[in-house]
Amino acid sequence: MSKTKTAFFCQECGHESPKWVGKCPNCGAWNTYVEELVVKTDAQSKRLSINTKSNKPRTVDQLETEMRPRMNVVDSEFHRVLGGGLVYGSVILFGGEPGIGKSTLMLQFALQQQDLKTLYVSGEESEEQIKLRVDRLGMKNPKCFVLMETRVEQIINEALEMQPDVLVVDSIQTLYNSDIESSPGSVSQVRESAGRLLRFAKETGTVVFIVGHITKEGTLAGPKLLEHMVDTVLQFEGDRHHVYRLLRTPKNRFGSTNELGIYEMEGSGLKPVDNPSQILLENRGEHLSGIAIAATLEGMRPMLLEIQALVSTAVYGTPQRSTTGFDIRRLNMLLAVLEKRCGFKLAMKDVFLNVAGGIKVEDPAMDLAVITAILSSGEDIAIPARTCFTGEVGLSGEIRPVARIDQRIAEAAKLGFEEIYVSSYNKGLTTVSKEIRVVQVGRVDELFGKVFG
Ligand code: TYD
Ligand code: MG
Repeated sequence: MSKTKTAFFCQECGHESPKWVGKCPNCGAWNTYVEELVVKTDAQSKRLSINTKSNKPRTVDQLETEMRPRMNVVDSEFHRVLGGGLVYGSVILFGGEPGIGKSTLMLQFALQQQDLKTLYVSGEESEEQIKLRVDRLGMKNPKCFVLMETRVEQIINEALEMQPDVLVVDSIQTLYNSDIESSPGSVSQVRESAGRLLRFAKETGTVVFIVGHITKEGTLAGPKLLEHMVDTVLQFEGDRHHVYRLLRTPKNRFGSTNELGIYEMEGSGLKPVDNPSQILLENRGEHLSGIAIAATLEGMRPMLLEIQALVSTAVYGTPQRSTTGFDIRRLNMLLAVLEKRCGFKLAMKDVFLNVAGGIKVEDPAMDLAVITAILSSGEDIAIPARTCFTGEVGLSGEIRPVARIDQRIAEAAKLGFEEIYVSSYNKGLTTVSKEIRVVQVGRVDELFGKVFG
């Protein structure tokens, strides 16, 4: 086997240098040099030649539709988000902020799969910590193996010997290749480790989960650069101070990217939330002003969320605007619309907005509930119970139609709402159920009269 060698390459222009340099002598870019392996091992080149031989151009009719077998995932939320089970030989990047619950979900998944052999490799935690976590999860599985290791070669050797169905590596930032000098977590280490795991997955048909930390800005070396290499990218998010966690798929070669999984972090692990609207609304107490319910849609999933607004006279010269779970620029825009198009004097008011449960949903249909909550708090009049809202607000104060309106109305009706406000431009409300009254509004200024009478 030939010895591996490394060199530094400019990420902008591909210029090669034997040493690291700050400024590329070829294109002049700064800080673009990354260490990479240059010599392919014999095994690699052999595989390449086999592939090229069998690969001939074919017409699309000649392509074989090979239905890739999938593994069943016990956790229903996980199963759905993955697009219906795990595809053999696929590589899944599982990203999220530190402390959000990635290790918990992965270990929990490994323990739940009673009929699969799983290997959970941890480079971050000690044996005691993992034991504690297993005890906390309260699950047993004789086919779930654990390994404390950070050397990639070693991990792959163990996996080759053990032949698990699923390999989980937690996390990519702790992995180390002895061929590369830079420290674990650096771009070259992360890329090379991921490359090896990818090869391992494709050659053996093992499903490989790669856990990676991402900061809020998504800047940390690693996960971002891996996104194009892997088959599926899962993202775990949520507010660490709240119990709900959302599982999304920004990329999925084997399924839809619209699915959303919701979990609740409990003392004994993450529990799937089957009926999100119900729990998010359950905690509603007495009838207060400033609370409006939005009929939103996240991916394919309708969800009713509680929007809370508080409008009060600003104590200081500059009024404060603050939000949780909602884009602050969007709030500023909605406030400007209310001020300019409806004459509500909000310029000297503090406005606070909160989406209950700490869930962040990016659905423009929340606008209507947001402005109604603000009006309700500003005027201190409660919104009638069992009323919800769905609609986008435009700059001229018009209420715009939203997608999949029937689905939203159906969800609201199912949860016992009696009235839903939608845009009057929403045409063809075909399957409107009889249990719910649909109120259509065209402009923001009509809203006040209609809601508060
Ligand atoms: P962890 O899974 O280690 O996060 P990550 O791997 O993404 O960094 O842990 C997340 C948090 O969850 C941790 O602070 C402890 C808490 N937790 C629970 O609330 N319940 C549980 O059953 C477990 C195992 C952890
Ligand atoms: Mg962890």
